[in-house]
Amino acid sequence: STGAVTYDPGFVNTAATSSAITYIDGDQGILRYRGYPIEELAEHSSFLEVSYLLIYGNLPSPSELEKFDSRIRRHTMLHEDLKGFFGGFPRDAHPMPVLSSAVSALSTFYQDSLDPFDDEQVEMATIRLMAKMPVIAAYAHKKSIGQPMLYPDNSMGLVENFLRLSFGLPAEPYEMDPVVVKALDLLLILHADHEQNCSTSTVRLVGSANANMFASVSAGINALFGPLHGGANEAVLNMLRDIQSSGEPVEKFVERVKNKEAGVKLMGFGHRVYKNYDPRAKIVKETAHEILAKLGGNDELLDIAMRLEEVALTDEYFISRKLYPNVDFYTGLIYKAMGFPEKMFTVLFAIGRLPGWIAQWREMMKDPQTKIGRPRQLYTGEPERMYPSR
Ligand code: SDX
Repeated sequence: STGAVTYDPGFVNTAATSSAITYIDGDQGILRYRGYPIEELAEHSSFLEVSYLLIYGNLPSPSELEKFDSRIRRHTMLHEDLKGFFGGFPRDAHPMPVLSSAVSALSTFYQDSLDPFDDEQVEMATIRLMAKMPVIAAYAHKKSIGQPMLYPDNSMGLVENFLRLSFGLPAEPYEMDPVVVKALDLLLILHADHEQNCSTSTVRLVGSANANMFASVSAGINALFGPLHGGANEAVLNMLRDIQSSGEPVEKFVERVKNKEAGVKLMGFGHRVYKNYDPRAKIVKETAHEILAKLGGNDELLDIAMRLEEVALTDEYFISRKLYPNVDFYTGLIYKAMGFPEKMFTVLFAIGRLPGWIAQWREMMKDPQTKIGRPRQLYTGEPERMYPSR
């Protein structure tokens, strides 16, 4: 027992590290950030407050939250040279490689935020990343649609500023939609951390070489881009659209999945840890109807998704393999209804996951015991042999 939870003895040997940040029980479908159930945080908290909780370990007092908020607002502006950086990418560049490159480039602009063992520098890196990554993400989107990049407005909070930078135009004032703000804030909370997933493990592994926070998070962004990980939310919408345009009943698509046709998977289903319904997917599904109704989302794709879920959850293939909807199954429909193109869905996942990456990197730097460090292997190659004499 770790004092907080009790594990089966067998499990202990499989754990790559220990962490005090996020707890998942895959069989029960439990997710807690610093002990708080995700359902409570989704209902009562905000993305900024959850970010503070993950990074500093406790919910902030009103004055602590206000100070965190104002520090982030004061660091949203990018160096003009970094702003020019976007011009070097092709017009149709996917925003994820642009995001990872620009985040890595932050280490060339901010030498006062690189030392992983200097508390003040770690704090500066934390605030700079929380402030600048959403701006970089919005600029990557503007680059891909050939629109001008606005300067941040520090009178706005993180989510509002990001929406204005993503959709605002210099020629007219941006009209903030409170429904979109609330929906995006909720989705960012749901993505904020998730224990030792692929991208977080990447952040820890790169950071275990004492690489700075920007370089480590940049590596995490690249891992998240994988379609089996964060890239799944984009893949789900493509899958739903293919089913829609094929006109085939979902049952036919499900048969193709079960027959494992050419790598066809039910994207947005299954999970390495959850062998029950992903609690985040449950929350997203509950709000999807409400949000799509208000935003005028694509109901037909939502109907296809609901039908797919209905068929899969009653089919032995999925039941026997404990395949349930994960966080990516419904989120893309909401992002689309907000006005984001598919290419931006995984970028939105990255913005949500940022506080988790930062918290996990800081925890590892403080406690070398939790460094994944250098994994060992079992060698399965040739026995020793000599170079042939010629
Ligand atoms: C995320 O780790 C995290 O916490 C990640 C994440 C986070 O917050 O960071 O939760 C975010 O990455 C969610 C997952 C998003 N990915 C997808 O939705 C892509 C589709 N899902 C999969 O590829 C798959 O389910 C994984 C990779 C997510 C999990 O795979 P598992 O649990 O290791 O299962 P497996 O690959 O060993 O497959 C077990 C069986 C296989 O069939 P058999 O060989 O036994 O016949 O289940 C099948 C697989 O073929 N299977 C699927 C399937 N997922 C697994 N069959 C159809 N569709 C699927 N989605």
